[in-house]
Amino acid sequence: MAEEIVALSAPPAAADLAGLGALLRDAVEGGASVGFMLPLAETDVSAFWAGIFTDVAAGTRVLLVARDAGLIVGSVQLGLATRANSLHRCELQKLLVLRSHRGRGLGTALMAVAEDFARLRHRTLIVLDTSATGHALNLYARCGYTRVGAIPRYARDPDGPFIDTVVYFKELT
Ligand SMILES: CC(C)(COP(=O)(O)OP(=O)(O)OC[C@H]1O[C@@H](n2cnc3c(N)ncnc32)[C@H](O)[C@@H]1OP(=O)(O)O)[C@@H](O)C(=O)NCCC(=O)NCCS
Repeated sequence: MAEEIVALSAPPAAADLAGLGALLRDAVEGGASVGFMLPLAETDVSAFWAGIFTDVAAGTRVLLVARDAGLIVGSVQLGLATRANSLHRCELQKLLVLRSHRGRGLGTALMAVAEDFARLRHRTLIVLDTSATGHALNLYARCGYTRVGAIPRYARDPDGPFIDTVVYFKELT
């Protein structure tokens, strides 16, 4: 289990930026459909995290990381809706745990802390989507998320084939 789960602020420390890059690369190279294709260019990784920290600085995104002995081993994000009619809502994105640290409850712990942060930001509805062939389906169901349905051929696996995507939501009490 990680020693801590914390929110990062902008700008990031160089070591954290490197750790986040390695985490994203580990997920994509492990076959996770999280927005990237293989081979994964380092410039794409840097550009992705730069955009995330721009949102964090703007206050429209929460970025949580799990650390083990100081190193980033997991992460999750909340994209905070900004439209006037949607300020109660956020989208949970990029739940990632290093392959070396999976299966120990870290993903579940990140979900629980993300929900705490959603409440702190007065968000009472969380939506998310995930690959129908990925590792997270049971986890989301176990965490109390309701399955809305599946969208066929919504995205691609990093090595090419189309995959279906499953949409979930959870209302926080
Ligand atoms: C989805 C993910 C975050 C889960 O992280 P995790 O720390 O393994 O999560 P947990 O340990 O809390 O639960 C993982 C589940 O896999 C099982 N498991 C056991 N050993 C495992 C292993 N070596 N690797 C992965 N899962 C394992 C756990 O028992 C648990 O099962 P359950 O959900 O049926 O109860 C992780 O697999 C991951 O980063 N995947 C790639 C990215 C991704 O697909 N993210 C989600 C969509 S954006």
